[in-house]
Amino acid sequence: MSVKDEYEAAGQAHLFYHWESLSEHEREQLLSNLARTDPLKLKECYKEAVRLVEGNVLNMDEVQPLPKGSYESVIDNSKDLNSRYESLGMEALRNGEVAVVLMAGGQGTRLGSSLPKGCYDVGLPSKKSLFQIQAERLQKLQELAGCLKPIPWYIMTSKLTRSATEEFFKKNKYFGLSEKQVRFFNQGTVPALDSSGEHLMLESRTELVESPDGNGGLYRALKNNKILEELLLNGIKHIHMYCVDNVLVKLADPVFLGYAIHHGFDVATKVVRKRDAHESVGLIVSKKHKPSVIEYYEISKELAEAIDESCGLLKLRAANIVNHYYSVALLKEKLDLWCEHMPYHIAKKKINYYDAGTNKIMKPDKVNGTKLEQFIFDVFDTIPIDKFGCLEVERSEEFSPLKNGPGSVNDNPETARLAYLRLGTKWLRNVGAHVDEGVLVEVSSSLSYNGESLGSYKGKSFHKSGEYIA
Ligand code: UTP
Repeated sequence: MSVKDEYEAAGQAHLFYHWESLSEHEREQLLSNLARTDPLKLKECYKEAVRLVEGNVLNMDEVQPLPKGSYESVIDNSKDLNSRYESLGMEALRNGEVAVVLMAGGQGTRLGSSLPKGCYDVGLPSKKSLFQIQAERLQKLQELAGCLKPIPWYIMTSKLTRSATEEFFKKNKYFGLSEKQVRFFNQGTVPALDSSGEHLMLESRTELVESPDGNGGLYRALKNNKILEELLLNGIKHIHMYCVDNVLVKLADPVFLGYAIHHGFDVATKVVRKRDAHESVGLIVSKKHKPSVIEYYEISKELAEAIDESCGLLKLRAANIVNHYYSVALLKEKLDLWCEHMPYHIAKKKINYYDAGTNKIMKPDKVNGTKLEQFIFDVFDTIPIDKFGCLEVERSEEFSPLKNGPGSVNDNPETARLAYLRLGTKWLRNVGAHVDEGVLVEVSSSLSYNGESLGSYKGKSFHKSGEYIA
C-alpha cells in the first residue's frame, strides 16, 4: 500500500485536501514526512492513553508513604550523616564516575519566551541565564571535588530547542566549561492529534504538527543516541538527572549522590516537603508496595490531609521535583524494556495548524488538540522498593522552578530571582557578613556551590540590594 493509501485508509484523507495544489517536490516531502509515522499505531497509543486515565482510579488503601528504608531527610539527618554522604559523593565525582543529564527539550509554552527556557534571564543583577548558572555550578563542583576529569554534561534538547540551545552555548563559549564535556542529544517527537484523537494535523503544506515526546522520552533518547554505551565506555556509574527550569538546582549534588551510593539504590529521587495539603504537586509514594508518583488530584481529600502522628507533618508530603539519581548498571539492565513499555499520556493543548482546505494557518483561541507525552516516572514501579530511595531536601535551598511568565501568580521569573538572591544572602549572613534587613545580594554560582568559599566576606557590610559578588 502506498503511504497516501495507508493514511486515507486510516481516516486521514484530510491531510491531502491540498494534494492537487502541491508541486512534485512538495508531494515527495509530504509523503516522506508521513512515512515516518504509522497512523494506526498512533491512534492505538491515543486509545491506550484514554484507557489509562479511565482505569486509573486509585484505591486509597494502596497508597502509603515510602517505607522508612526508602526515605530520609537532609533536614532531619545529623550533620555527620549528611557530611558522610557528601564525602562519598565527592569521591565518586573525583574518580570520574558521575555524569549529569539535563532535560531541556520542553517547549516552555507557559513561560512564553521565544528562546529555550535555559537561555532565560530571571533578572539577577548579573543577568545570567539559567544555563550559565548551571554551567558555573558544575565548574565549581569540579573544582571542589578535585575531579580528575571534567564531569560530562549531557543536555537533552528537542527539534524545537536544539539549534538555539547549541548556538547559545557556542556564543557564550560554553560558559567556561570544556566544549568536549557538553554533549547535546535530541529526544524524539510525536505527531499531535485533534481533540477527538482521531485526526492528525498539518503544521505546513508538507509537515505534520509534532511535539517532543515528554520528559519520559529521555529513556528512548539515551538509547537512540547511544549515550548509554558512551557512559559505560567512560566508566560512568552514576547519573544525576534534572530539569532546566529549577534556578536552585544543585547539579551532581554530592550529598544526594552519596545517599544513593551508600544505600546501593538503583534509582533515587529528591523531594521537597509539600507546602500544605492542597498544593498542586505530584507525590512520591508507595503504591501497591511499589515506588510511584501520583498526581495531587488523584488522592482523596482525607488522604491529602492525613497527618503522620510521629512527626505532626502531612503523611504524604514528598513532593516530586523531577530530580533523580540512576545507577548506570540499572540503565544497562532496564533501558530496552523501559523504552518498549512506557505508556503515553494525553495533554490537551491549543495547537496552531495548517488547514489544507483553506490553505491557511489556523491559530485557535481554545484547546483544539491532543499531544501525547511520556512521563519519566512511569518506570519507577519496575524498581524494587528496597532499591529506591527518596531524599527530602530544603525547598528554599534547592527548588524554585520557572514555569510561568512575568507577573503570573507563581513559579515565575520574580519568584525564581527572589529564591536565588535569598539563598545567597543567607549564605553571606551564615559566614558573618552584615546584610541589612531587606537587602538581597547575588552570590555568583561560580564562587560558591553550597555556601562554602565565602569566608572572606566575614564582617563585610551590604547596605543595598543589587550587589553581585563573584
Ligand atoms: P514541563 O513539563 O514543565 O514543560 O517540563 P516545559 O516545556 O518546561 O513547559 P510548558 O509545560 O510547555 O509550559 C519540565 C522539564 O522537562 C523538560 C523541560 O525542558 C523542563 O526541563 N521536558 C519537558 C523535556 O525535556 N522534554 C519534554 O518533552 C517535556
